[in-house]
Amino acid sequence: MKSEILNMLRATGGYLSGQQLCEHLGVSRTAVWKAVNDLREEGYIIEAVRNRGYRLVEDADVITQAELKSILKTGWIGNRLEYFDETDSTNTRARKFAEEGAPHGTLVVADSQSSGKGRRGRLWTSPRGVGIWMSMVLRPDIAPVHASMLTLIAGMAVVRGVKESTGLDAMIKWPNDAVLAGRKICGILTEMSTEDDSIRYVITGIGINVNIDEFPEEIRDKATSLKMELGKSVKRSPVIRAVAEAFETYYDIFLETCDMSRLKEEYNRELANTGREVLVLDPRGQYEGTALGIDDEGSLLVRKKDGTVVPVISGEVSVRGIYGYI
Ligand code: BTN
Repeated sequence: MKSEILNMLRATGGYLSGQQLCEHLGVSRTAVWKAVNDLREEGYIIEAVRNRGYRLVEDADVITQAELKSILKTGWIGNRLEYFDETDSTNTRARKFAEEGAPHGTLVVADSQSSGKGRRGRLWTSPRGVGIWMSMVLRPDIAPVHASMLTLIAGMAVVRGVKESTGLDAMIKWPNDAVLAGRKICGILTEMSTEDDSIRYVITGIGINVNIDEFPEEIRDKATSLKMELGKSVKRSPVIRAVAEAFETYYDIFLETCDMSRLKEEYNRELANTGREVLVLDPRGQYEGTALGIDDEGSLLVRKKDGTVVPVISGEVSVRGIYGYI
């Protein structure tokens, strides 16, 4: 009911009488009054004027079920939506839901994570109320070898979503970090479960630093937040909406070919690594080169010192900037 009230108030823009709300929702005036009060407690500023009704003056920065249900305009992401004030890790939760049969597009969102997971077993700091910590259950009908490209399209979705919702010109650090002013604003962790060479499910977890004001000493020169770059706070739900919509668009394009051929040009335009000197940490032997862009498989093409161009496969090898983080 709270999401419907939010929808109605937003659609009207002005006042809506308690009577109109009750009739539309088929509930009592007291029930409407109670729901409006709940919303106020969550931080929404809702004015109530005698003989005129309720008016939404300002949205709250919340990413609750009601807020996301009212704001998401996606086709399939979030049709099932699970919200937690706090959880260990949205990836872990999404995995459990997937094991229990949660459908493609199930979205798990948390206001804080107590053991957020980063890549390579690292911890992902996920403080309360200042970030987007979310995971999607995906059930693509593709071969497991192609799944790592889902991470690339998640990176593209974050870049587009951030641009659309804040105007900030985020870029991609291959394969899937989103960066602003050379610092990381987003990390993506994709986990997969397979059976007989087919995918049971993929969990794509996205962490975006939204209103974080300060980072721990060790990552201060590598990390930033949307607020730090914009100079003002950002409401998180419109960012989630924009990222989810962009993800659906890219996902459909990706499925047409099961590779990056139709997305490569856009990806390469947004790639912060292009033309930069990188150190490729290949377990078979590390080497330096210049990053050129991705190929159809999503591999990063690197020109070595001897002029040969080698594809670096995402997920197997990591790439580090020689002069700074990118
Ligand atoms: C990285 O190391 O760059 C990946 C970080 C991924 C963090 C996100 S936050 C939401 C989801 N849940 C997790 O536990 N991790 C991912």
